[in-house]
Amino acid sequence: MNLSTTYLGLKLRSPLVIGASPLCENLDTAYRLEEAGAAAIVMHSLFEEQIEHEQHALFHHLETPAESHSEATSFFPNYNEYRLTPETYVRKLERLKKALSIPVIASLNGRRPGGWVDYARLLESAGADAIELNTYQLATDPNTSGNFIETDILETLRAVVSTVKIPVAVKLSPFHTALAQFATTLDQHGAAGVVLFNRFYQPDFDIDTMEVVPKLKLSTSDELLLRLRWLSILSPHLKGSLACGGGIHTAEDLVKALLAGAHAVQIVSLPLEYGPRALVPLIDGLVEWMNDHEYRSVDQLRGTMNLRRCPNPEAHERANYIKVLQGWCA
Ligand SMILES: Cc1cc2nc3c(=O)[nH]c(=O)nc-3n(C[C@H](O)[C@H](O)[C@H](O)COP(=O)(O)O)c2cc1C
Repeated sequence: MNLSTTYLGLKLRSPLVIGASPLCENLDTAYRLEEAGAAAIVMHSLFEEQIEHEQHALFHHLETPAESHSEATSFFPNYNEYRLTPETYVRKLERLKKALSIPVIASLNGRRPGGWVDYARLLESAGADAIELNTYQLATDPNTSGNFIETDILETLRAVVSTVKIPVAVKLSPFHTALAQFATTLDQHGAAGVVLFNRFYQPDFDIDTMEVVPKLKLSTSDELLLRLRWLSILSPHLKGSLACGGGIHTAEDLVKALLAGAHAVQIVSLPLEYGPRALVPLIDGLVEWMNDHEYRSVDQLRGTMNLRRCPNPEAHERANYIKVLQGWCA
């Protein structure tokens, strides 16, 4: 049984990738994830804001060395709240590379092109096998158009791609108006793959204290359905790789993501909740399913349920939508 896959041009022994999260913070946890079957690991993000703070601090230090310390600390009030500084991030990456034999993907997280993008070169020098670019943003300004946001993302991608030789993936939001067009444009402009999708932080209201409460809920398999739909739509059109990022909790979820066209799945909530060994049943279940359905390799089964053979995917989606609504009996 051949479980290997190629993701971002990297040969992986299976499609199981650990998504960007605190899971790689501890070397021992990262090692146990590798032992349990993870085929690659994405580090948690290094943020544009962190890098720019550090770059300003360095610039200020060079210009006015005598005042640099006090000015710098007052300029960056929340700097210490980040998990790692850009420098310690690079050191962590070097340590992960030494400790693990699987690829380590660094994650850069920012909103628009800028000097922070140069950091990609340092991540490459530190041994990153690839870079995942997360362009998380919520357009709250009514004057900001979708086109403006997508142009920024495209320019950021171009800047990173021209800075490094390693592959660059883009982690996308599901909320683009014409996702198929945007994803193929990213593909044409050098993205080695796209990750579907970013999960948005969704604060809640506490109606007793009248406060906005930050909430980070771990996923469930329910989140897979949105990914399955877009994997199926995009899979016939992209030259690069597709990762299913979110909602993988069982072997069945994994099989579905592969059938829809994923080259890899990124998993976070499951091992965060149940530990590294929670990956084992996913691999075992995939092997069992492949045996039962007479598939010899992951490559053979990938995309067999995508929309390649559907003559009119838009009509197909619309027809299913109408059928589902009409099918409900009160
Ligand atoms: C605690 C936590 C921290 C995360 N940190 C990052 C991050 O730094 N960068 C990023 O791109 N995604 C981050 N994510 C999102 C995950 O990479 C992933 O996209 C998401 O959790 C969906 O996968 P899952 O359904 O298996 O949880 C984080 C998720 C969690 C739960």
